[in-house]
Amino acid sequence: MGDENTILFFTSNKGKIAEAKAILKPYGINVEPFDSLIEINEIQSANLEDVAADKLTKAIANNHSRNILAVMVEDAGFFIDEFEGFPGVYSSYVHKTLGINGVLRSLVGIENRCASFRCVIGMHIGRRNLFFTGECKGTVSSEVRGKNGFGYDPIFIPNEGDGRTFAEMNLEEKGQISHRTKAIDAFKAHFDEFKQSPTSNHRNGS
Ligand code: IMP
Repeated sequence: MGDENTILFFTSNKGKIAEAKAILKPYGINVEPFDSLIEINEIQSANLEDVAADKLTKAIANNHSRNILAVMVEDAGFFIDEFEGFPGVYSSYVHKTLGINGVLRSLVGIENRCASFRCVIGMHIGRRNLFFTGECKGTVSSEVRGKNGFGYDPIFIPNEGDGRTFAEMNLEEKGQISHRTKAIDAFKAHFDEFKQSPTSNHRNGS
């Protein structure tokens, strides 16, 4: 599967695939999930970078497609200021157990509703492992709003938006300001610079 304009994204999260696809499509880069995805155990770590680096090692070991642009992984989380960043790297677990309504309940009576999404993407490209970060700051809404997106989108109001939650925005609107877009844009800027360098050859990693 794939060709030299394809990035294989090692994730089972369809929302992440759809967003990465939409962000990279204008650049002529196609994003596809792995053909078959083994269940991997995420390492327990206090930071997204370590988890992304571990995921990238596992993704590379599981990639059997040769003629592709890159293998990509991502680790993301929802960081609530009042709780010193929690759930952060535990976002997936908290989402499954407490759910977004539980998060809203935990903030009842608390004035500071500032929060942010952060993500680290890892790219294996030209035999190198590169990491890029993105952050989107905002606040936690007082109720669940919107049907789009996934995860914490229905309770997150980005500062750069117009007061709607991410889940009230369509893919393109979220894609203009999201943490994922910022991380992928950082990769894209690096990739363009690298391609323009007279000595570069991203196919052989030199
Ligand atoms: P993961 O470990 O990178 O898969 O992400 C951890 C959790 O963070 C996910 O299960 C989602 O609940 C949440 N999350 C990550 N990115 C987003 C996003 O863009 N919108 C909403 N929730 C997100």
